Amino acid sequence: MSKSTELRYMTGFGNEFASEAIAGALPVGQNSPQRVAHGLYAEQLSGSAFTAPRGQNRRSWLYRIRPAAMHGAFSLLGGADAKPRFHNDFGDGPVTPDQLRWDPLPLPTTPTDFVDGLYTVAGNGSPAAQQGVGIHLYAADRDMAGRFFHDADGELLLVPQLGRLRIATEMGVLEVEPQQIAVVPRGVRFRVELPDGPSRGYVLENFGAPLRLPELGPIGSNGLANPRDFETPVAAYEDVEGAFELVAKFQGHLWRADIGHSPLDVVGWHGNCAPYRYDLRRFNTIGSISFDHPDPSIFTVLTAPSDTPGTANVDFAIFPPRWLVAQHTFRPPWFHRNVASELMGLVHGAYDAKAEGFLPGGCSLHNCMTGHGPDAATFDKASNADLSRPDVVTDTMAFMFETRGVIRPAAQALEAAHRQRDYQQCWAGLRRNFTPPL
Ligand SMILES: [Fe+2]
Repeated sequence: MSKSTELRYMTGFGNEFASEAIAGALPVGQNSPQRVAHGLYAEQLSGSAFTAPRGQNRRSWLYRIRPAAMHGAFSLLGGADAKPRFHNDFGDGPVTPDQLRWDPLPLPTTPTDFVDGLYTVAGNGSPAAQQGVGIHLYAADRDMAGRFFHDADGELLLVPQLGRLRIATEMGVLEVEPQQIAVVPRGVRFRVELPDGPSRGYVLENFGAPLRLPELGPIGSNGLANPRDFETPVAAYEDVEGAFELVAKFQGHLWRADIGHSPLDVVGWHGNCAPYRYDLRRFNTIGSISFDHPDPSIFTVLTAPSDTPGTANVDFAIFPPRWLVAQHTFRPPWFHRNVASELMGLVHGAYDAKAEGFLPGGCSLHNCMTGHGPDAATFDKASNADLSRPDVVTDTMAFMFETRGVIRPAAQALEAAHRQRDYQQCWAGLRRNFTPPL
């Protein structure tokens, strides 16, 4: 292990970072000298096309004990007949337009690490097309031991809901707690430890362009998620040999290979393709101070653009604590239908558009043009609220993965015992209030 186990971070979003766990590990003035200091190997990790525009180009140079090519042959994890719960099989049959909601994924009853605890809920597109998303949950209760993972199919956005995650990556260690997020670039190897034991959360697997900060337009140069609040780990390496396992997700399937050393052996690195974390409580929430609502795009933390300007492959938006001051306005989110599709989760507390049933760790899915909005109890309360004074929403942290493509629920999620089959009843109590003039 490297000498320092203290977690340290560099701040900024998409900046050119440089970090070395041993002084002099990074070459000066070039990337791949004939001989790298300390007998390290130089290796480039490209997270975007070589020729991507400079502002969107992501790549890092890693200076490591052994190159990433060194491992045994891959075979399907669990064998050819395995039926993994973590996949990208979103089906090609009919998709229900129903509103769907789930209780939290049950915690495991047998020892389960992060990789084995991954469970696919829904998704769209495909890793082969490099567009769309996989939406997953995890429920696990033990550290990954002697085991490492990378996802070649997509960038991973981790949203813990229960318990902290200690994510040891090639570029250093990230520790995240509920109400923080972590992003691991496509292909970066990591190991997840669970300092608090039983843990649960959400995972967005982004097959498209890497997540970035949204444009701010008339908001100006500050606001929403500020770049300086994103934290990237400093280099921390493991110099360990043993009989380990490397698990790779490749084209929707899980593969495993023997590896005789820890692949977290990067002594120094520089570049802008790196894992990062962000504390959602630092989000500068912006909303109406007169009347009515901005569209929920005002809550976008990160966006992965598609090839169509202004239309994201996926947006990650949050609904954090905030003041509600709009006048002449139904203050919770209104009834709506969108061309986009929305999967929502709840990290903490309660969500202000639902009186009950939407639990921390649960999720809901409202697909393209499927009507949704406040339940009957919330409608009654907000329709009669006293708007002469501000209201404050505390004790909440909901989020949304919003995608341009229809989100296809996985068969296991539709059939799951924890799916709420009576979800639509939450709107059944909405009364007919129409009173036409006589
Ligand atoms: Fe919605």
